[in-house]
Amino acid sequence: MVINIGILVSGRGSNMEAILKAIRDGKIKNCEVKVVISSKKDARALEVAKTYGVKAIAIEEVGFKDRVEYDNEIMKCLIEHGVTPDNGLVLLAGYMKILSPEFVNKFKWRIMNIHPSLLPSFPALHAQKQALEYGVKVTGCTVHFVDESLDMGPIILQAPVPVEEDDTVESLSNRILEWEHKIYPEAVRLFIEGKLKIEGRRVRILK
Ligand code: GRF
Repeated sequence: MVINIGILVSGRGSNMEAILKAIRDGKIKNCEVKVVISSKKDARALEVAKTYGVKAIAIEEVGFKDRVEYDNEIMKCLIEHGVTPDNGLVLLAGYMKILSPEFVNKFKWRIMNIHPSLLPSFPALHAQKQALEYGVKVTGCTVHFVDESLDMGPIILQAPVPVEEDDTVESLSNRILEWEHKIYPEAVRLFIEGKLKIEGRRVRILK
């Protein structure tokens, strides 16, 4: 079965691009990115998506009663583009909004996120800065399924990244980003090949 993908973004879109590239290069098969939706109309990600021939739409959270109403609009857009709870996969890639429980439950275990730390350390914003200030010697990145918690859903893949003596937030973020671009497409591939099995908090990777 072909999986229809929707990617939610808010900014630069480098993780989105890594996934689009992996699909274009045939590293991930049996899927199609049907739509990219940005919560910000000036997001660079929208332009990048178009260069890959992917439909890119901005839906800003303006004029909606609350997050549930906004998320309903996002879900409507996904479904209209063929990204459904039956055959869809929703990828958060630098998406700066917290999904409502309604959204999470509608697309249960079909939403992934990438986070720039080794979760459960340093959830939420500025994870790289948090890691540097805490003084850890190793940090990294995590791809996880999205549940109702913030950055605490079942972990799919992680990559460790050393903190160097002379690191700044920028240099550390860049080193982590290189790994984000490797593990996010890999997690997507595993999902599409049906190799991820959730058992409680653990995500088993089938051979
Ligand atoms: C990445 O560091 C990602 O881990 C975090 O937000 C950043 C998005 O970067 N969730 P990009 O838009 O994918 O370039």
